[in-house]
Amino acid sequence: MAVNPVFAFFKVTLKEEIHKDRLPHHMAIIMDGNGRWAKQRGMIRAFGHEKGTKAVREVVEGAAELGIEYLTLYAFSTENWNRPKLEVKTLMKLLVSSLKKEIATLQENNIRLSMIGNLDALPSQAKKELLEVMDKTKNNNRMTLTLALSYGSREEITKALKDISLKVKNNIISPENIDDSVIIEHLYTQNLPDVDLLIRTSGEQRISNFLLWQIAYAELYFTEVLWPDFTKDHLYKAILNYQQRERRFGKTSEQIN
Ligand code: FPP
Repeated sequence: MAVNPVFAFFKVTLKEEIHKDRLPHHMAIIMDGNGRWAKQRGMIRAFGHEKGTKAVREVVEGAAELGIEYLTLYAFSTENWNRPKLEVKTLMKLLVSSLKKEIATLQENNIRLSMIGNLDALPSQAKKELLEVMDKTKNNNRMTLTLALSYGSREEITKALKDISLKVKNNIISPENIDDSVIIEHLYTQNLPDVDLLIRTSGEQRISNFLLWQIAYAELYFTEVLWPDFTKDHLYKAILNYQQRERRFGKTSEQIN
């Protein structure tokens, strides 16, 4: 059936279909597929990462415009240190140049930058730049953008266990008082709520050591789209899909409704 052009004009966009009162508070993304995107075009992997930074910009903007409060991006895992030296160097360089380039946009848009992971493992220039941007944006409150850098969930949990054990040893905490909240206080994500929606691009369906504790009740969304191709519309589709899910948190459907 032919679409009446008058109605086509009023076509509801994906963005308009999103219910603003049911947004995920905390959205996390495993940005995957940069290497394959470049390979498909006969380019070296670095081009994929570079194009990936443009998708980062698009998604940060899209999430902030919608009113998402927390966005966490898996930018570099503890395991990524095992990649070829040149690729690691390229990723760190991209991090520094992106931070330099985007600080003004973060300020203009009232976005706070934070990081989770082993800050001390980063090259000194990246660490310096990160600390500077985090400090300059610390009072921004529209959205918290968290970069997971040299981040691994197992390392995070191991570190938390060590810190708690030390407190037990020094009689600061007694073992019977250890509960969820004590563990949460010792994770890198102590200031972030649990993840509501976890997106992974590129068709891979795994978690890869990302926020294992924090995704206990997250809705998982996998898409075939390679990260450099990910646009605001892909983001809207993921959120619309999330909004169709019934989140029961272990309860029955009747209890929820
Ligand atoms: C995964 O694709 C992507 C990464 C390991 C790095 C993500 C980095 C960016 C998007 C650019 C820099 C980000 C910031 C915040 C400045 P892959 O290389 O594993 O792709 P493949 O699975 O196709 O090989």
